[in-house]
Formats: sequence, C-alpha cells, structure tokens
Amino acid sequence: MFEPRESAGGKRRRAKAARLYPKPMRSPVPEIHAGTGVRVPARWGQDIERILITEEQIARRIRALSHEIARDFTGREMVVVSLLNGTVMFLSDLIRNLSLPMRLDFIGVSSYGAGTESGNLVFTKELRLNVQGRDVLLVDDILDTGKTLCRVLAKIRALKPRRIKTCVLLNKVARRVEAVEADYVGFEIPDFFVVGYGLDFAERYRNLPFVGVLHAHVYKTAGPADKPIPHGKKDARRRS
Ligand code: IMP
Ligand code: MG
Repeated sequence: MFEPRESAGGKRRRAKAARLYPKPMRSPVPEIHAGTGVRVPARWGQDIERILITEEQIARRIRALSHEIARDFTGREMVVVSLLNGTVMFLSDLIRNLSLPMRLDFIGVSSYGAGTESGNLVFTKELRLNVQGRDVLLVDDILDTGKTLCRVLAKIRALKPRRIKTCVLLNKVARRVEAVEADYVGFEIPDFFVVGYGLDFAERYRNLPFVGVLHAHVYKTAGPADKPIPHGKKDARRRS
C-alpha cells in the first residue's frame, strides 16, 4: 500500500512508538477452520449453525490489532473511516483500545440485496471530513470478493490522503475476485456466510456478541420483504 518516504522526525516518532508499544509489531493472523465447540445460545439455535469465533477470542484479537495500529500511527492525528453498517461493534471496540488522537467519519455503502452475494454497490453516505494529507485508517467488517474495499479505496485515494491503511475484522481469502489485501486482519476464515458482531443477513443478527455461521435454510427461505429499500426511494411497504 502507498507509503511515503520517512522523514527524520518520522523516524524519531517510530523509535518512540517502538518503545511505547513493544514487539511483536505484527502478530500472526489467527486462522479459523471449523470454529469453536462452544454451544450456540438456545435463543439463536434455530438460525445459527455454530459459533465460529467467540466473544472472548474477538476481544483478545482486537486488543492486539489496536496495539499494532497504535504503533504504526503514532505521531500524527489519524482519520478513521469506517464503513456502515457492518463495522458498528468492531469499530467501537477497536477505537476504544486505541489511545491516539483521531477523528472519525463514516462512509455508507450497500450492495442492496438480502442475499449472501455482493451486488451493485451504492454509496448511501459520503465522507464529510477532509482527508487530504492525512493518515487514514479504513475499517470494514469483512473482506470477501474485495469489490467493496477496492471501490472505497479508489474513492479515498482520489482525495489525496498522506497514507491509507486498511483494517478488517474478517478475511475470506477463498472468495477474492479483486487483487486487494488488508493491512490489519482480525481473523482468516473459510468460505462460510457469517453473521454477528455487526455482520448481518438482511439487517438481522448484527447484535450477536459472537461471529456465527448462518444456517443455509435462513438465506434460502428469505423473501423480498427482507430486502432494503433502494436509496432515495420511498418505502412502498410502509404506510404513511
Ligand atoms: P466484498 O465486496 O465482496 O468484499 O464484500 C464486502 C461486504 O459484503 C462486507 O462489508 C459485508 O457487508 C458483506 N459480506 C461479505 N461476506 C459476508 C458474510 O459472510 N456475512 C455478512 N456479510 C458479508
Ligand atoms: Mg458491510
């Protein structure tokens, strides 16, 4: 990813960061294969096949990620740009653990479908902060085909930030279509459709505190009423 040549001041700040945030600078990304043996709470048992990543595993990993990010971004105020809506939980835990000066903004992006495939991307909220000459951290919930991250990266790069790094909670390498990787990754996961900890299916399950594998019967039986209303159009289903 784009990195400018480092100044003498930058080197000093880096050395200071190395003292403040000791090694390892990059911890190995945990690879999840089948998931945990932890039982799905009865309330979710119908819809969730199994728990892939527990609340505790997520919390531990996010602390490590925040540590790495703090080390890399020390010395300059950063702008965190988070993609709505899937990053809600991840973002709040990530920045809660980041004691650095920062500004926060959001980009809304949706592929408008209640399905499990990413379709046509639509921007539902634009960036409001000026990122020109700034250090930007772009946060997303999951890197799947890579289409979303590619589109958003191109959009932010056009605004001429000083540098831009990307951070995702989950990475599904097997599904990649675009040549894009994230700089900070929480977990590598297999090709399962997952929900929870901010990730949804048809806007549901975002509130689960863990990441779970969705039962196939849920997305096979989802109807048109589960689809969101296209941006700028009136909700024909809603009575005024
Ligand atoms: P991509 O553009 O295919 O990389 O997909 C990125 C977006 O698709 C994410 O920000 C999610 O909103 C959504 N997505 C991809 N895989 C999953 C999944 O397994 N569960 C929930 N959402 C997903
Ligand atoms: Mg998303």
